[in-house]
This record gives sequence, structure tokens and C-alpha cells, in this order.
Amino acid sequence: MNAATAPIRPATEEAIAEAARLLREGRLVAFPTETVYGLGADATSDAAVARLFAAKGRPRFNPLIVHFADAADIAPHGVMDGRARALAEKFWPGPLTLVLARTPGTGISALVSAGLETIAVRVPAHPVARALIAAAGVPLAAPSANRSGDISPTTAAHVARSLDGAPAMILDAGPTPVGIESTVIDLAGPRAALLRPGGLAREAIEAVTGPLAVPADEEKGDGPARAPGRLGRHYAPHLPLRLEVTELRQGEALLAFGPNLPAGAGRAVKVLNLSPTGDVIEAAANLFAMLHALDASGAKAIAAMKVPEAGLGAAINDRLRRAVRPLPDSEPGD
Ligand code: TXA
Ligand code: MG
Repeated sequence: MNAATAPIRPATEEAIAEAARLLREGRLVAFPTETVYGLGADATSDAAVARLFAAKGRPRFNPLIVHFADAADIAPHGVMDGRARALAEKFWPGPLTLVLARTPGTGISALVSAGLETIAVRVPAHPVARALIAAAGVPLAAPSANRSGDISPTTAAHVARSLDGAPAMILDAGPTPVGIESTVIDLAGPRAALLRPGGLAREAIEAVTGPLAVPADEEKGDGPARAPGRLGRHYAPHLPLRLEVTELRQGEALLAFGPNLPAGAGRAVKVLNLSPTGDVIEAAANLFAMLHALDASGAKAIAAMKVPEAGLGAAINDRLRRAVRPLPDSEPGD
């Protein structure tokens, strides 16, 4: 069977309502923002966000930007301090993304933040984006609507070419006016830092924040580049982590995968299964929440079963390996 081709629909009121319905069902919808087209998913659904990573074909779980219709909707999810409020007041809606401390108990998927205690948020200026988010009634996680490694799409045709059948719908509102991604500013640390230059000039931001720090390993775009700024510090459990286990040791908690558990699983302090049926997309959806839960289980260590490298399995294994051994470039500071 041929992969279905995503329907491109002019962004009428009816099409936006239909797209919002698809999003609430956990499907993916590509939509215009003022910067580039985004591939949107319900940010509160682990499963929808996992599908997003699968569609992007990203080799890693880079954290995603969560899009809101209104700055007032952000408070339950991210900590808006004085700096954030000043930037929001001046530049939102617009091509600015703020990385904030996650509000405890937020219903946003842990996978959106790649397990980190931060969340990237933005209020886009495009009327179609805002209407869609409002109609969906949930914030939307949305990376640029291209497969990893392709350039960012500024027309609906670019999206169709790069992602083919992945979105259930592509909302078309013509070329995006800004044409490059939003500027990403990290406000989770004491000093504001520029993580990604973009559609809003650094000087305009510095007029509000004062001089921005620029992390040495800043990332441009979302290719297979190194992680930007504080991303050097990936989420890792506090407990020691053992990979590809075939036999449980005393006092361990088990991160299982698939129907066949390893020897000694019965004596595990706690068992959580990423996907009892062996589905890597389901496993990705559960990964960070389960690591956090096992980390808090009172076990001596976490034992993780092998996950196959196919599809999202590669990104899962990448993240598990990083959780074992910190990256050489994981320096503190902002
Ligand atoms: O203009 C844009 O920002 C577009 C449109 C669709 O809104 N979106 C976009 O998303 O470019 P994406 O996923 O391609 O890029 C997100 C950037 C990446 O550089 C990512 O590392 C950074 O934001 N980011 C997201 N969450 C972060 C976090 N918690 N900490 C640090 N960086 C984060
Ligand atoms: Mg991108």
C-alpha cells in the first residue's frame, strides 16, 4: 500500500475546526506560524508527542517548543518570572521562544521536555496558528514541519515534500512571513542565554534583558548537531542505570520492554514496562515518565532491558546510554 499523502487544505474556519478535532484525537497536523510551518501534536499526550518524534525521524529526543494561544495560558506549565513577563509583554505574539522552569504538576508530556525540568514556550503571531491552538483547547508541541536533516518549511508544499503522509492534514496559509525559526532564550538559569538565534534580533531582546550569555555549544537548527546550552545537561536518573540486562540483581528496579522479562524479574523492587507488546513508539511515549518513577522507587539501581534500534528505538537507546554516562560536554553553567 502506498503511504497516504497528507491533504493540503486552505486554512478556512472549517479546516481549522477539523484540524483541531484531529489534534484532540492525538493525530499530527502541520500548520503555519509566522516563522516556519510547524508539525503540531497535543502537548499533553505522551503518545501524540512520540508520534511526532517518529514522523520527524529525529535520531534523538531534542526537547520541543510548546505553542500557546495566549501568554496568560502558560503559568500552569512554566514559571514566568519578571524577565519572562517583560519579554512576553514586548514580543508576544511573535518569533520568540522562552525556556522556563517547568511548573511542578504540569500536564505537559515529559517527552516534550526530553525529561528535563524545563519547558520551551512560545505564543506565535500567525492568526491561523492561534486559531488552531484555541480550537484544539490544548497547547501544541510543534517542531518545524520537516524531517530531521531537511530544511525548515516555509510553504505547505515544502511540508508535503519533506513529511509526506505523516501529518493527517496540512493547513495552508501561503508562505510564512518571517521564514526563519524563533529566537530561543533560556530563562531557566540566573543569567538569560541565547540558545538559538532566530526571527527576533538579539539586540531587541538585550534591550530588555541586558547582555545575553551565549553558550559555547549553541546549536543552529535541529540537524544532528550537538545540543544547545543547558541541553548539554541531559536528563539522567539519580540512580545508577544498567543497560541490556538479562538478569536482575538484588535491589534493582526494572525498566522492561516487550513481553519476555529477564531472569529474576520477580524480585525487582518495581517493574515498569515501556511497551509490553514491544512497540517502540509506545515505549518512547513512556520513557521519561517511567525513568522518573523508577528513580523515585527506592531501588538501588535501575536495570533496563534492551530496546531494538529500529525507528524510535535508536532515540530511546541514545537517551538511555547518555543516562549511564554523562556527556563529555555536559558542563554546568548557562
Ligand atoms: O519558529 C519556531 O521556533 C518553529 C515554529 C514551528 O514554532 N519551531 C521550531 O521547533 O523551530 P524545533 O523543535 O525545530 O526547535 C526547537 C528548539 C531547539 O533548538 C531545541 O533544542 C530548543 O528549541 N529547546 C526546546 N526545548 C528546550 C529546553 N527545554 N531547553 C533548551 N532548549 C530547548
Ligand atoms: Mg527545526
